[in-house]
Amino acid sequence: MKRRLDQLLANLGYCTRSEARHWITGGRVTVDDGVNKNHGTKADPSTVCVNGKPLDHPEGILVLLHKPTGLVCSHDEREGPSIYDLFPERWRRRNPVITSVGRLDKDTSGLLLVTDQSQLVHRLTSPKHKVPKVYRAKVDRDLAPALIEVFAAGTLQLEGEKSPLAPATLVIREPRIAELTLIEGKYHQVRRMFASQGWHVESLHRERFGDLSLDGLSAGEWRELPRSIFDHKQD
Ligand code: URA
Repeated sequence: MKRRLDQLLANLGYCTRSEARHWITGGRVTVDDGVNKNHGTKADPSTVCVNGKPLDHPEGILVLLHKPTGLVCSHDEREGPSIYDLFPERWRRRNPVITSVGRLDKDTSGLLLVTDQSQLVHRLTSPKHKVPKVYRAKVDRDLAPALIEVFAAGTLQLEGEKSPLAPATLVIREPRIAELTLIEGKYHQVRRMFASQGWHVESLHRERFGDLSLDGLSAGEWRELPRSIFDHKQD
């Protein structure tokens, strides 16, 4: 879709709209390899360059991040170091903003999707779509096999919640290592599920989100995903 040059640059976080007009009249912006000094020109974003470089993700962002512990999933700087510090600084100024698909706690590591596509966020976080999320939790004492049935029953209701949790699948991998698959994402859900049964989660890591896994990404690294990978799951 064609878009006005000044609006395009501002929305992609390059500068303000008035700065964009200066950039354009100053000849820093080309369309189809030719300098275009009219900021009202509408152009296909894929044909626009700034200072000779193609635009940064003009059609939107979808990345898979290996979230390290110690970072919050928030844009509010008062909450401390954030996952958004890991991305190019310009991404913070984009409109629409980039946001994580659901959140992981500060102390949780693992797979997190980040995008500027709000419809995708809605689709992937809605329990209706039953996207399985797989967590690996280390707990403070040996796991009891009885937990498997408790979590699978679909009757466990956490304090402060109005309805029971959806059935979840627990696999005991080692005496104190659990693999838990959820199709919803309530606040601190894994930690609260174990706490409700008397176990404390010492560390938590998300290994999978739907069909996606970290595939060798180290903590703090991210890779791009083609948005098309989710197209077939659309309503
Ligand atoms: N459950 C939690 O308790 N924390 C997370 O970060 C994710 C799921």
